Amino acid sequence: MALEKADFTGTRATMLATLHGRALHSRTANPVLRDPYAEEAVRRIDHDFGSTGLRRNDPLAIAVRGRVFDDLTAARLAADPEVTVLHLGCGLDSRVQRLDPPPSVEWYDVDFPEVIELRNRIYPERAHHHTIGSSVTAPDLLRAFPADRPALVVAEGLTMYLRPAEGVALLRRITERFPRGHLIFDVQSPLATRWAHLFNGAVRAAGARLTWGVRGGRELERAVPGLVLDQEHTFFDVPELDRLHPFYRALVRGMGRVPALRDLALVLTMHFG
Ligand SMILES: C[S@@+](CC[C@H](N)C(=O)[O-])C[C@H]1O[C@@H](n2cnc3c(N)ncnc32)[C@H](O)[C@@H]1O
Repeated sequence: MALEKADFTGTRATMLATLHGRALHSRTANPVLRDPYAEEAVRRIDHDFGSTGLRRNDPLAIAVRGRVFDDLTAARLAADPEVTVLHLGCGLDSRVQRLDPPPSVEWYDVDFPEVIELRNRIYPERAHHHTIGSSVTAPDLLRAFPADRPALVVAEGLTMYLRPAEGVALLRRITERFPRGHLIFDVQSPLATRWAHLFNGAVRAAGARLTWGVRGGRELERAVPGLVLDQEHTFFDVPELDRLHPFYRALVRGMGRVPALRDLALVLTMHFG
């Protein structure tokens, strides 16, 4: 089978690092997140994945983040299976394959057109699954989704690459378009977005810019009428940290006790309507 090209730079290239991280971690014994689709995608793409800038503990961290998102999404779909899922900034993440939602769920994977073109070549079609090649900030994007069903918006590793005004405008459009909905997405603090350009190997290797730092869910409640924070999840208390080398485990647990460090990266669950 001919290999696919993936000549991306900047933000678009960051999804090659997360894909690679999930594939690497999936191959380990007893992985936090098993992702055979990522393993296969990496085999199918003609790319020097060694150049994605991942460091020693990054595959585990990426898998933990993916697992947290998978678990939150699965729980939401179990509670509310008649929804439209907007999986924004999906990259080559195989979440829809991993979760295999019931036919009552209409699932839309959205990313830039070049990313979606590659995605469509890599992953087979499936019923009740759609892909849309567009910037998530395009003002008319939401017209592509039926407005009569509740929405479940899932966005992993996306918001930090949007400009603040674009991100807030997107959230406002979502709350205005759908009768009700839930959102599961991660944010990075302003400090984290600055540090990423110095310390995040994947961001540096891609040449990506992080432009939106968010201090937490309350900030977004104030910016977006009707949006309500359900929970802020940190990565510092997940049991999977026990898999780290004792030195890193102690370091991470210590960081989790310092509020400014604990809030560097948060997964927010929010709702409206
Ligand atoms: C860090 S990657 C995460 C990809 C995927 N969610 C994952 O976890 O593997 C960031 C993704 O956001 C996408 N992205 C960034 N800005 C975007 C925008 N304005 N519109 C659509 N996609 C965007 C990039 O193309 C990339 O696929």
